[in-house]
Amino acid sequence: MDDFISTLPCVDSWRHKHLLGLESLSAEDITLLLDVADRFRTICKSAKNKLNLLSGKTVCTLFFENSTRTRSSFTLAAQRLGASVLAFAAGTSSMSKGETVVDTARNIEAMGVDSFVVRHNMPGAPKLISENASGCVLNAGDGAHAHPTQALLDILTIRQRLGTLEGKTVALVGDIAHSRVARSNIWGLKKLGAKVILCGPSTLVSSEWAKIGVEYSYSLDEILPNVDVLNLLRIQFERQQSRPFPSVREYELLYTMNARRLAKAKKDVLIIAPGPINRGVEVTAEVADGPQSAIIDQVTNGLAVRMAALWLTDLRRDGE
Ligand code: NCD
Repeated sequence: MDDFISTLPCVDSWRHKHLLGLESLSAEDITLLLDVADRFRTICKSAKNKLNLLSGKTVCTLFFENSTRTRSSFTLAAQRLGASVLAFAAGTSSMSKGETVVDTARNIEAMGVDSFVVRHNMPGAPKLISENASGCVLNAGDGAHAHPTQALLDILTIRQRLGTLEGKTVALVGDIAHSRVARSNIWGLKKLGAKVILCGPSTLVSSEWAKIGVEYSYSLDEILPNVDVLNLLRIQFERQQSRPFPSVREYELLYTMNARRLAKAKKDVLIIAPGPINRGVEVTAEVADGPQSAIIDQVTNGLAVRMAALWLTDLRRDGE
């Protein structure tokens, strides 16, 4: 295993104690994290290859919203690095008695927790914890604001398949307005030199990103022949106050990625989606399970990215 550690990229340039979003990371930071994740992916194909880079450390998964992939992969990532994991169950905690998020984090930290992985429906909750507790904080999704590790695993998947992000055209399709995945993807993709097109119903796509060079389209059929990657985002019904389009049937007619649309795309177009997917709404089963889809591979990359994020932030635990 020592041989493996010596093959990891030089991480001296990493300066971040927390991972709250991608906006504050440089292209070099993102590339370093992806390079480390690539190495972890190679070694950690099986649970037998456990590393001891975080042995003696405790990671707390502080999830106030539901999760399948993100929570499981952060847990496995911490375990494969040799850390202990404390799974905090928000539903059965004293938060129901009125305890605040900050008090909750501080009390857990008093038991000797080194890092918090935080998911909350309030944008900014992970930042608030980072300002009031002394451990590292990794944002696992805060409201519609940011989901940095999801974007990193999306970008890692694209880089593995296409070799580079530079000059590639990536379309984020669907519910941009309510998507933390879209926001983090936009920052990460732009920093690495990709062209980003946001595509969906006009009620779910606004022009606020034009200032950083992001393009828009309300017609998936129009942009399809020119895109290298389609990232299909779930309609976040749980975050919507009003109905953003008349019916799911109408969405399906205009935006669902199906075999007919796939035939109009570049022949090697890459299909990704953060999951969960609503089969038949964002993407049909045929396309989701087809040869151009990397949806399951993204989940494998999620483990590697989260190992990289936990390890790199821990290296700077005494920093800013
Ligand atoms: C995403 C999330 O929670 O924001 N899911 C995930 O982390 N894999 C996307 C979504 O819920 O649609």
